[in-house]
Amino acid sequence: MEQTAKLIIDGKTYELPIIEGTEGERAIDISALRRDTGLITMDPGYPNTGSCESSITFMDGERGILRYRGIPVAQLAEHSSFRETSYLLINGELPTPDELNHFSVMLNDHSLVHEDMQHFFQNFPRRAHPMGILSSMVNAVRVFYPEIPEDTSQEAINITFSRLLSKVRTMAAMSYKYSKGHQVVYPSHRLSYCANFLNMMFDSPVKPYEIDEDMVRALNVFWILHADHEQNCSTSAVRLVGSARVNLYAAISAGICALWGKFHGGANQAVVEMLQDIQDGGGDPAPFIARARDRNDPFRLMGFGHRVYKTYDPRARIIKQVCDTVLSKLTYSDPLLDIAMQLEEVALKDPYFIDHHLYPNLDFYSGIILRAMGIPLNMFTVMFAIGRLPGWISQWKESVEDPHWKVHRPRQIYQGKTERDYVPMGERVTKVS
Ligand code: ACO
Repeated sequence: MEQTAKLIIDGKTYELPIIEGTEGERAIDISALRRDTGLITMDPGYPNTGSCESSITFMDGERGILRYRGIPVAQLAEHSSFRETSYLLINGELPTPDELNHFSVMLNDHSLVHEDMQHFFQNFPRRAHPMGILSSMVNAVRVFYPEIPEDTSQEAINITFSRLLSKVRTMAAMSYKYSKGHQVVYPSHRLSYCANFLNMMFDSPVKPYEIDEDMVRALNVFWILHADHEQNCSTSAVRLVGSARVNLYAAISAGICALWGKFHGGANQAVVEMLQDIQDGGGDPAPFIARARDRNDPFRLMGFGHRVYKTYDPRARIIKQVCDTVLSKLTYSDPLLDIAMQLEEVALKDPYFIDHHLYPNLDFYSGIILRAMGIPLNMFTVMFAIGRLPGWISQWKESVEDPHWKVHRPRQIYQGKTERDYVPMGERVTKVS
């Protein structure tokens, strides 16, 4: 029997269908609400609003669950590669050996960036933020390569996805080399997706980069953990911009811009900056916790809290383990890690953090891993963007294939002035402050 919810407005009862997902999540379908009642719903920031039905990622913030296409992220982090996880997200199933091999060949074939695009890189100021460069360059890729035609073959679609996945990685490394004023390192067919990135970042004519398999593994896990997170801010940006039927590159570029913000992907950079501030202030995290608790202070503890997780972020547990492996390779100890661990310990016992269900999120430890890999601070959010790319692509693909597709266009409740007449300039009274 179809479940419904009853809504009574001005004494009249409306029955609204209830939609149930495969994991038992339920939503009241209000798609006919305005037509039937003249009312809309109000949900600033959308914490109570479902924007789509999706079969890509399941997360349960209360129980700390995250699965891609049904597979727990911890299993993928342990057994899979970023390349294979990308295939899973985009295509819905794990690849066979032949499919994975074909995918690798496509990633390799499309990894070079058009030589003419180098002029763009050369003309960005050296101090330009790599996220700004990346979002512009992804848009620029559209100019060099055609967008996906409406009636295209699956192979042509796959080429576009592979092109994005491999070129974004190449362009990210290029932007770093340009920022240093160093010669660009090209991708190599001999290296895997992650090893290639590290090599393009750190190989140099005067100091050849030696591939360290532990670092490659850590990068795989880092990117697997970032690969998708259902309808977060940047993914919603990709879906919203994509709903106007712009080309895929423009939609992904919008996602990169949304990710840049410090309350989203920019948090990994903000965490390290905060840990550095704590260290510069003598290493005691207590004043920072006190500021975070103070309602009159806008300061927030970076890397804590999450819109959906009201328990420990499952990704934070995994990344913390990888952090230990990566740091054990270093010949020096990172004082910021000790500060991070102290901060976590104090915050987890603090009544404010307990009452507000504030736990460390993925970004809390990811900055420390990236530092240990030698990734510069301003590239941290770019690292997140490369990892989130398969998620954005699969969510975009799902949204354009959705038979119930609509241009995203929320409404509002107007609270401004009611109608009034235009006052000619000479009749306006000067305000006295
Ligand atoms: N430090 C201190 N207080 C916090 C924090 C924090 N990090 N996060 C939330 N709160 C408090 C708020 O002040 C608010 O308190 P109040 O109810 O007493 O006024 C309450 O918790 C709820 O805060 P909201 O902003 O409504 O929660 P929301 O779910 O919208 O916020 C967010 C989620 C933006 C991630 C928030 O926790 C935050 O700003 N965290 C720091 C930035 C960060 O780490 N971002 C990374 C997000 S994860 C990711 O993108 C991979």
